[in-house]
Amino acid sequence: MSALLEVNSVSRRFGGVEALKDITFSVHGGEIFSIIGPNGAGKTTLFNLLTGVFYADEGSILFNSHDITRKRTFEIARLGIQRTFQNLQIFLNMNCIENVKTACHTRISSGMISGCLRLKKVIQEERIVEKWAMEALDFVGMKDLALAPSDTLPYGLLKRLEIARALAAKPSLILLDEPAAGLNDTETLEMRHLIESISRSGITVMLVEHNMSLVMEISHRIMVLNYGQCLKLGTPTEVQKDPEVIAAYLGEAAG
Ligand SMILES: Nc1ncnc2c1ncn2[C@@H]1O[C@H](COP(=O)(O)OP(=O)(O)OP(=O)(O)O)[C@@H](O)[C@H]1O
Ligand SMILES: [Mg+2]
Repeated sequence: MSALLEVNSVSRRFGGVEALKDITFSVHGGEIFSIIGPNGAGKTTLFNLLTGVFYADEGSILFNSHDITRKRTFEIARLGIQRTFQNLQIFLNMNCIENVKTACHTRISSGMISGCLRLKKVIQEERIVEKWAMEALDFVGMKDLALAPSDTLPYGLLKRLEIARALAAKPSLILLDEPAAGLNDTETLEMRHLIESISRSGITVMLVEHNMSLVMEISHRIMVLNYGQCLKLGTPTEVQKDPEVIAAYLGEAAG
């Protein structure tokens, strides 16, 4: 399998905190690759580096052979990485389809000036955006809620809406930061099915999650972070039986 994402010796500090320290790994196309570890281990920081929210102090990140180490968020989105957030980032003053469309506009955009000059192209683009947004809502089972105000949705649906927004931009890699947090058992099972169908559709998935049964059941490989360092990288079986991982995290997460 070829590597879609290559992270080479990446470090990131915040003041005196070493949020990530010399992290190296690669993710293959088609994988469900999970990152687990205690609170503050550096999981969200890694997603922030992969999406240009922050830059690495050291090291490099290659995506699809493009060096994205210093690229900006919208450039990375255009190259095909999308994400969801640990703390939902939904525009509550917009309805569902408007929320989803915001991601498509970063992917294909004529820009204001050319937009004024070439109205026909803008209209064509608007049609594509509408189509992509509806397809994404359909994918997550929310087509009928396209016009529903997002501030009326229960939490579980807001999480799905955020995933729809990421999917609408046609990523080849999606980063999901705690998609099952705050969900009940039924919603968690539905989320599992959704993640599996995203994977089956050909999109590579990186998952940060504290729900260990979900992680162990759907991941191809797992990286365990602890205090910004990689404690273990392996299959679910390898990770689950590692004494250091059990001591640092799994004992506590399972208990
Ligand atoms: N913007 C920031 N400014 C200062 N410190 C930060 C910032 N972002 C993260 N950190 C610090 O970096 C470390 C890693 O944080 P991070 O959010 O990546 O952890 P996490 O593994 O996602 O934890 P959790 O499971 O609680 O979400 C923590 O010590 C955190 O306080
Ligand atoms: Mg986090």
